[in-house]
Amino acid sequence: MHRVALGLLSLFVAATLAEDVSAADVRQGETLAKRWCATCHVVASDQRHPTGEAPPFSSIGRTPDLDASKLALFLLLPHPHMPAMTLSRLEAADLAAYIVSQGK
Ligand code: HEC
Repeated sequence: MHRVALGLLSLFVAATLAEDVSAADVRQGETLAKRWCATCHVVASDQRHPTGEAPPFSSIGRTPDLDASKLALFLLLPHPHMPAMTLSRLEAADLAAYIVSQGK
């Protein structure tokens, strides 16, 4: 039952996210990444080593099949190994766009 609800929620969020993602602001995403993600992830090419085992954004951005909408959705759902971040949909879209730009 829970899984079905989560699946439906994901579908709904994914549909509305597509709009946010197309209007995403990469520079805003960079600012957010440096503020919230850089303690664990290498978020920019000029950054020195972080602590922990989080994958660098440049490699996340190169993951096949992981486009900005999927990334934004991932960031909005709770997941293991990462602290619960309460990002708005727009912040998630900005971050996703930034991560994708780092993979180029
Ligand atoms: C406290 C440390 C920590 C912070 C802060 C953190 N992460 Fe992570 N993140 C991780 C770890 C560890 C993993 C790897 C999880 C795994 O392998 O299961 C991860 C995985 C990810 C993944 C999935 C990569 C993949 O290929 O599946 C994404 C995307 C991601 N993080 C984005 C972010 C973003 C964006 C932020 C900032 C808003 C952030 N993380 C902040 C520790 C962190």
